[in-house]
Amino acid sequence: MGRNKITVVGAGNVGASVAAYASAQELGDVVVIDILEGVPQGKGLDMWEATPVLGVDTRVIGTNQYEMTEGSDLVIITAGIARKPGMSRDDLLATNVRIVADVSEKVARFSPDAIIIVVSNPLDAMVYTTWKKSGFHPRRILGMAGVLDTARFRSFLAEEIGVSVEDVHALVLGGHGDTMVPLTRYCFVGGIPVTNFISPDRLEEIVQRTRQGGAEIVNLLKTGSAYYAPAASAVLMAESVLRDKKRLLPVAAYLDGEFNEKGLFVGVPAILGAAGVEKVVELELTVEEQEAFEKSVEAVRSLVKEVDQLL
Ligand code: APR
Repeated sequence: MGRNKITVVGAGNVGASVAAYASAQELGDVVVIDILEGVPQGKGLDMWEATPVLGVDTRVIGTNQYEMTEGSDLVIITAGIARKPGMSRDDLLATNVRIVADVSEKVARFSPDAIIIVVSNPLDAMVYTTWKKSGFHPRRILGMAGVLDTARFRSFLAEEIGVSVEDVHALVLGGHGDTMVPLTRYCFVGGIPVTNFISPDRLEEIVQRTRQGGAEIVNLLKTGSAYYAPAASAVLMAESVLRDKKRLLPVAAYLDGEFNEKGLFVGVPAILGAAGVEKVVELELTVEEQEAFEKSVEAVRSLVKEVDQLL
């Protein structure tokens, strides 16, 4: 069995971080592709030159040519513009639909058997765009949002409670935006319900900080949006696919009747393996959770309508 081949589309902040983490974790050889000339080549060379120090055997290369991406096992799409202070993820729609549509067609042509992970925003609409333009079975396309949102939630909670981040588990449903639905009922610390450790009011404050987690970073950076945690989250999903680990993670997955929704991608718990999304795990929701989920799905549906008009 040879090494996996991973393509990262976009050599910007998120793309370069994805490539660096994937190489450092020895997930496979990495091709980074961007429209900028020299940038992917330079970053790719730099990352490859880090491999002896890291002690990993991966070849990282940068390119502007899709021929170099041919036959990839996994493709991670990070191309597109990032938001600046005052912008919502939805403000990126018109520009990023154009970019992600173009990229998805080329990815599908050169890597017809790949699994695709989409990171570009607005996430749920970009995953849908990739599905429409690639022609792939929808279960081979997944969106990275829930792993990041729960990572933020887990970080804040772990610090508050004074435990390892590893022992905090959380779940979030819905779209990757202000309507996301963190399910505190399913949040456990070392197997013990989180409410054993923290008051409902404080928990709600942490939920609010999580909802605004992306904006908090945009407001600090001023020139762009988060990339280390988004990249690490995409690479965790990539690992589960490439190593067929069957991790159960919150991802933007295609719903075909699950959660009573059909025909669009929304954040739900799913099992990720070699085939992509191998199963969407359904769960009982309370009346309030169901309402919040439906509201979030409605927000995704209206964005997807705009995508349909732009494509
Ligand atoms: N093909 C390939 N790369 C492209 C294309 C294209 N058609 N169009 C733009 N790009 C590249 C840009 O040249 C740039 O290098 O995408 C890269 C984007 O990098 P950054 O501007 O640094 O943005 P980044 O922070 O990486 O965010 C990228 O991920 O998290 C999301 O909201 C974020 O949509 C944004 C995306």
